[in-house]
Amino acid sequence: MKAVIINFKAYEEGSGERAVSLAKAVEDVSKKVDFYMAVCPPFVDLSDVMGGVEIDVFAQHTDAVSYGSHTGRITPEMLKEKGVKGSLINHSERRLRLADIDYLVSKFRELELISVVCTNNVATTKAAAALSPDYVAIEPPELIGSGIPVSKAEPEVVENSVKAAKEIDSSVKVLCGAGIATYEDVVAAIDLGADGVLLASGVVKAKDQKKALEELVGLR
Ligand code: G3P
Repeated sequence: MKAVIINFKAYEEGSGERAVSLAKAVEDVSKKVDFYMAVCPPFVDLSDVMGGVEIDVFAQHTDAVSYGSHTGRITPEMLKEKGVKGSLINHSERRLRLADIDYLVSKFRELELISVVCTNNVATTKAAAALSPDYVAIEPPELIGSGIPVSKAEPEVVENSVKAAKEIDSSVKVLCGAGIATYEDVVAAIDLGADGVLLASGVVKAKDQKKALEELVGLR
């Protein structure tokens, strides 16, 4: 099943009670379509969101440390204990070192958490695929939040990332993100070989989030 993962980032429209309402809207829409839909609310809203919906809830970031003397850190074990399904790793707005990404992907495998490693180009997609995460999400940073869909602006990056990742490990699923907002963008991504999309502003910042969600998955 193709995936649609929605990252709430630190947008006001996706925080606090609004995070719960938005996640509920995602859940409602997910029942009507043949997409795997999941949400990534802010850390502080994870528990409330998980209490409000049954769809998969992901963290937006995890630190490459275990329990211990690490003030302000979020460990994979903490996410597991809370019932979080997985996490974005190395998002463009929260980059990590290669060794940290490797640590997290291995630890997630051990804990049965879903890893979504974000990348910025074909070369880093190859490097991420070599770690065999569950997903790699290719997102050219210059298109993030731009409203210009990567699937139209840089189709070759998506296509070549899919090819490169599958050549290295055919079990790695490849998402694309940046500027995705419409069903046309999603279909274009899938036509380029992607296993789904990762997006934020097109839904979270929309005037009518429910309508934007319905448009995104082809219900309107
Ligand atoms: O994590 C998704 C993201 O970085 C893409 O953002 O606003 O272009 O959909 P956006």
